[in-house]
Amino acid sequence: MTAKIIDGIAVAASIRAECRDRIAQIVAKGGTPPGLAVILVGSDPASQVYVRNKMRACAEVGIRSYRFDYPADVDQQTVIDGIEELNADPKVHGILVQLPLPPSFDIARILRTISADKDVDGFHLYNVGGLVVGGTVFPPCTPYGVLKLLQHEKIPLEGKNVVVVGASNIVGKPMALMLMHHEATVSICHAKTKDLAQFTILADILVVAAGKPNLILPQMVRTGAVVIDVGINRTADGKLVGDVDFEGVAKKASYITPVPGGVGPMTVSMLLVNTIASCERWQRHELFDLTNYRPRLEIAQP
Ligand code: GUN
Repeated sequence: MTAKIIDGIAVAASIRAECRDRIAQIVAKGGTPPGLAVILVGSDPASQVYVRNKMRACAEVGIRSYRFDYPADVDQQTVIDGIEELNADPKVHGILVQLPLPPSFDIARILRTISADKDVDGFHLYNVGGLVVGGTVFPPCTPYGVLKLLQHEKIPLEGKNVVVVGASNIVGKPMALMLMHHEATVSICHAKTKDLAQFTILADILVVAAGKPNLILPQMVRTGAVVIDVGINRTADGKLVGDVDFEGVAKKASYITPVPGGVGPMTVSMLLVNTIASCERWQRHELFDLTNYRPRLEIAQP
């Protein structure tokens, strides 16, 4: 068997074309075009590239983007004050703080400061809660992109065994929840999982987001499985690779995503979709009622 290679660049481009049409409709009705604020703290080279790509994609579809760079040693309160200004800014419909943040930062505190109504990354507790109970407004962009790729290829999810490798808040956990909402049987593996292969071999659909090159070898994959590689790793010779042995696994799988050119472009396109959806919500005055929600309350430790 030779896998069909899922072309994330092409699917992402078709979503961007739809984004342009949606923005044209907003503007034609006299609305403010969507605006996205992107905050980068420090000078992590990978984050610089991601932020540049996100801003370029915004320009391509007609989203206004505003970039805020802070040095790595900035005081956390300065960033919080900046976010609060953006929460009140009517030009801004989405606020994204690029992760990771420097180790001195309390990430949960930063993410809770972003208005749930502008949380286009879907990382705010309110949106995470929405994801758990179903019907979230802003699905996190990477798992949202994976779901779109599976839907684009008309790969059914209902009743399928899906194994997600990686349990991060950004990809693995929200991915598992979204797949559960589509009635898949989901297992989550992580760095402490014993004998990973005994799980992966059962997968009809394998989603890998572990950040380890060559973690998934052909003998760990069932013949005919769908393999989605979310990993982005740079090898010693500067090459970008995923978490899956692409050449080997492509001979066994029915579908596979390449790295680069698979999930990566979808993440950026879904950020554009969430930003436009946020702008449309603001224009419909359809915001969350957070009257009794107190984001500044610290969460009690169990
Ligand atoms: N760092 C890696 N992925 C992401 C993402 O989806 N959003 C943000 N804000 N930071 C990231």
